[in-house]
Amino acid sequence: MNDFIFHNPDKVYFGRNQLEHLSEELLQFGKKALLVYGGGSIKKNGLYDSITSIVKNSGIELFELSGVEPNPRHSTVNKGAAICKKENIDVVIAAGGGSTIDCAKGIAAAAYTENGDVWSLVSGGVWVTKVLPVIAILTNAATGSEMDAWAVISNMDTNEKIGLGGNALIPKVAFENPEYSYTLPSYQTACGAFDIFNHILDNYYLAGEATFDLLLEMQEAVMRTVVKWTPVAIKEPENYEARANLMWASSMALNTVLDGGTVHGCACHAMEHELSAYYDITHGHGLAIVTPRWLTYILDETTAPAIYRLGIKVFGVEEGLNEVDGAKKTIGALSDFCFDTLGLLPTLTDLNIDETHFKSMAEHACAGGSITGLRELLPSDIEKIYKMCL
Ligand code: NZQ
Ligand code: ZN
Repeated sequence: MNDFIFHNPDKVYFGRNQLEHLSEELLQFGKKALLVYGGGSIKKNGLYDSITSIVKNSGIELFELSGVEPNPRHSTVNKGAAICKKENIDVVIAAGGGSTIDCAKGIAAAAYTENGDVWSLVSGGVWVTKVLPVIAILTNAATGSEMDAWAVISNMDTNEKIGLGGNALIPKVAFENPEYSYTLPSYQTACGAFDIFNHILDNYYLAGEATFDLLLEMQEAVMRTVVKWTPVAIKEPENYEARANLMWASSMALNTVLDGGTVHGCACHAMEHELSAYYDITHGHGLAIVTPRWLTYILDETTAPAIYRLGIKVFGVEEGLNEVDGAKKTIGALSDFCFDTLGLLPTLTDLNIDETHFKSMAEHACAGGSITGLRELLPSDIEKIYKMCL
């Protein structure tokens, strides 16, 4: 068990009628706000109208940056930073999923750089300490960006997708109304759900570090929640209980409450970020394809107990089996969840990805070293795992 500090300064308003607090939260930061959003889902579901009317009635001057791409581009972040610099913006509002929130965080950080270029922070591995305040209004239960210290930014010119980190990047305030996610297509619901699941699996549960029982039980509870409620949300998109469970699970997975001082391995995330950097695929789908293959690759007598425990606690695999057999059943149950229950296509070939870039992707994923986690992986291992995904 490691020593740890838990401190998450994000103030979360969770539930149906919380957006009325937006005004008071904005006004503590100033009178000029930049609203950042994506391709228009917030206009279709009415959230855009709610935000703009609250902001205008508060006497706050509103600027906008729309069109944030899934897998947000550094060039879009830089456009937002330029607006902040030119207009002396006091606070950045992000309304959308992880891409929009990450873009807003990147803007908030780049606004404090001299050249206004977020890529100089991202590529320099800078731990961000100075940002404009960000208020996140979440519409997709997935990335945990609404409560975490990370922003994942893509540079399509160089096929790079890299996390920008810093406690300063944690939003000051988040609004989580499960109703905002009613309009999510089932594909995004499925991808988001598997992202939540994998954050726990990748970062903590199978991080290969000493942890303690309370944390393992809590991690398993959140993963069970995803397994239980995602099919309901897919079948009944306006089921409040299902959307609420997934939304809070998204935040719990990465707000460090389940962390317990572990250093995250992020094995599947490192492999997936290369896939979306090269092929612009949906993050959660890439994770769903990689995760069962990764588990199959690392399965041996030393890793079997942890994998089998996942099966027993999360997927209801029977107890008392030989550990390797139990681990195999667990991987089968996980695959069924991804490809049958969630309905995600099971291979990279299905996404028109072949092995052309596997070697360089594997090297990038290891960033000159190796991937840690339940088992240490070198680029040659990663390349083999990618091939298992074809
Ligand atoms: O752009 P709009 O029109 O809003 O549509 C989006 C987008 O097309 C749509 N959508 C979102 N909420 C909706 C909705 N459509 C209808 N109704 C709603 N309520 O869904 C599509 C995907 O949105 P996006 O924000 O890209 O999805 P997600 O939340 O999964 O974010 C993915 C990004 O976050 C990064 C991923 O790598 C990817 O770039 N991640 C960020 C992390 C972090 N900050 O800590 C950690 C994660 O591991 C992840 O890497
Ligand atoms: Zn993720």
